[in-house]
Amino acid sequence: MSASSVTADGRARVLADGSQLPMLGLGVWQVPAGAACINAVRWALELGYRHIDTAQAYGNEESVGRALRDSGLPRDAVFITTKFFPSNRDPVAAAEQSLKRLDVDYIDLYLIHWPERGPTWAWPGMERALQRGSARAIGISNFGVGELEQVIAAGTVRPAVNQVEFNPVHYRRGLLDACLAQDVAVEAYSPLGTGRRLSDKTVRRVAERAGRTPAQVLLRWCLQHGLPVIPKSTHRDRIESNAQIFDFVLSAEDMTALDSLDKTKGTERALEHKWW
Ligand SMILES: NC(=O)c1ccc[n+]([C@@H]2O[C@H](COP(=O)([O-])OP(=O)(O)OC[C@H]3O[C@@H](n4cnc5c(N)ncnc54)[C@H](OP(=O)(O)O)[C@@H]3O)[C@@H](O)[C@H]2O)c1
Repeated sequence: MSASSVTADGRARVLADGSQLPMLGLGVWQVPAGAACINAVRWALELGYRHIDTAQAYGNEESVGRALRDSGLPRDAVFITTKFFPSNRDPVAAAEQSLKRLDVDYIDLYLIHWPERGPTWAWPGMERALQRGSARAIGISNFGVGELEQVIAAGTVRPAVNQVEFNPVHYRRGLLDACLAQDVAVEAYSPLGTGRRLSDKTVRRVAERAGRTPAQVLLRWCLQHGLPVIPKSTHRDRIESNAQIFDFVLSAEDMTALDSLDKTKGTERALEHKWW
């Protein structure tokens, strides 16, 4: 990562095309459509989040759109990511459906959710969605180094982002280095390990030392590696405290202790097990 990849205030990752991806977003995987999702997104927007991460597979794009509308914020103040569900065949048609459900004119970032049936077949459709203006940026998710290289070789536009599971236990250093070398931003999903890393002994020790919550420590660890984070919560107090990660710094010693939790051996892979 070059020094200029994150804005001076530390709030956004600058993508290859110069656009900015906010370093903090709210993830809404496993948040049921309806009141739960509308409330979570509403609270996040009230509390200063300007980035929401949803997907066609999550079934809650309409609720995200509803909360966005209700917030009264201008469309261009909020960064919306959604993901192409690759069991479908046509990224362009699927993007149109997402735009309707979200009730917006464009998606800020449109990702292939996972490389089902191979890494390259959906990319031309993603590029068309970009050309048509349905998406402002396109990228991939759950792609390892080999898969990323195939997309780059086959396409005319490079993925702006690769969204992968990333936290101290899944410190995919090989994948991160390869993405950065190709000017592809890595975005950290499941930064709390879907909640499982919050009780880790080392994480708790660092949190005590820093006077912070385990969640804040895990999120801050990603920020200090230059990675945007999209923690999920349906609780207002947690959504609030998860945003308080820009006013402290983990020491080099704490970063090293957290780095050493990696169980992937610095892998170039995006996933340990496929789910498709
Ligand atoms: N591209 C992909 O394939 C992919 C895959 C997985 C995830 N994602 C994205 O990444 C987002 C985040 O990942 P994730 O949903 O796996 O989980 P996560 O953000 O790592 O962890 C969320 C879990 O931690 C709990 N939690 C959140 N903040 C907390 C806090 N301050 N204190 C205690 N518990 C807290 C949440 O519970 P409560 O809700 O009850 O607070 C929830 O159980 C997803 O929502 C999705 O947008 C993408």
